[in-house]
Amino acid sequence: MKKIALTGIKPTGIPHIGNYLGAIQPALKLSETCEARFFIADYHALNATKDPVAIRSMTLEIAAAWLACGLDPDKVLFYRQSDVPETFELLTILLAFTPKGLMNRAHAYKAMLQTNSEAGKDPDDGVNMGLFTYPILMAADILLFDTDLVPVGNDQFQHVEMAVDIAQSFNHIYSSQALRLPQPLAQPESKTVVGLDGRKMSKSYGNIIPLFAPEKQLRKTVMKIVTNSQEIEEPKDPDTCSVFSLYKCFASSEEIAALRARYTAGGMGWGEAKQELFVAMNRELAPHRQRYEELVQNPDYIHQVLREGAAKVRPLAAAKIMSLRKIIGIS
Ligand code: ADP
Ligand code: TRP
Repeated sequence: MKKIALTGIKPTGIPHIGNYLGAIQPALKLSETCEARFFIADYHALNATKDPVAIRSMTLEIAAAWLACGLDPDKVLFYRQSDVPETFELLTILLAFTPKGLMNRAHAYKAMLQTNSEAGKDPDDGVNMGLFTYPILMAADILLFDTDLVPVGNDQFQHVEMAVDIAQSFNHIYSSQALRLPQPLAQPESKTVVGLDGRKMSKSYGNIIPLFAPEKQLRKTVMKIVTNSQEIEEPKDPDTCSVFSLYKCFASSEEIAALRARYTAGGMGWGEAKQELFVAMNRELAPHRQRYEELVQNPDYIHQVLREGAAKVRPLAAAKIMSLRKIIGIS
């Protein structure tokens, strides 16, 4: 029996190289060995965004991004959270098994309290109940589908552990194994992709290289990567350089060895190193970019893919809800 791997993708912001290497590629790789279920977490986005145009367009764009990078909807169950209303019934059930204290300990909520207190504001300023109960909705997403593995970034680890706590509480009360306990699957720290300024690439730092930037813009962005002020003739250290670190993600081992030799020999300027990086990146990304541009021109196709995905998962979700209703006495 294959393990079930499930992950949610928040439709926020334009996808960048960090998302591609740290989330999209590893998840697609995992889908080769697991039964994969990937969904667009649109109701999660509502907590932060109240702009309907943005939610609609970002949902399409993020779906297009995954399809363009090779997600095959015949192999992966790919759907929109909002198309699976059973999620929200499970959320209601789980609310009754989640101690408020557990939510008080959630990192994202605690960070908001901290920011508010530092700004001298009411601790709960700007905190809506969607944000406060976010980990319970996430637990519903996961537990609805008997998930074994949840590939996520390190920042989401705590949420998956909370899903385990909530499931255990349910199972314990009914002496059942009704809810399968999921396991978070994190990317190793070494896989963190650096951004233009050498820090972790993140939209919150404004240091991203967009995944589908047109060729000219991609080149311009790569040229903006911050390097030191060493002269052309000086030997350079590849292992402390953001350009080289990114190059390693896109080049073959022979190419990596060749560029390493050019770094250490001296005589190569930063402009040349960046050009090598651009060429390697563009070689890999150009076909994805082309497919992405075709897909965003065809929203009907994307909607159809997501609808078909939902049609495939809803019977599974309905069966799960029926079995839980029996256990709790609501059937
Ligand atoms: P951002 O930091 O830009 O807001 P998200 O938090 O939306 O990105 O991340 C979405 C997914 O992409 C997560 O699985 C996360 O681990 C992965 N990811 C984001 N940035 C990086 C990075 N710099 N290196 C590796 N993975 C990343
Ligand atoms: N919270 C996740 C994030 O911010 C997105 C998400 C929602 C998710 N539901 C999920 C991830 C279920 C894994 C499983 O990236």
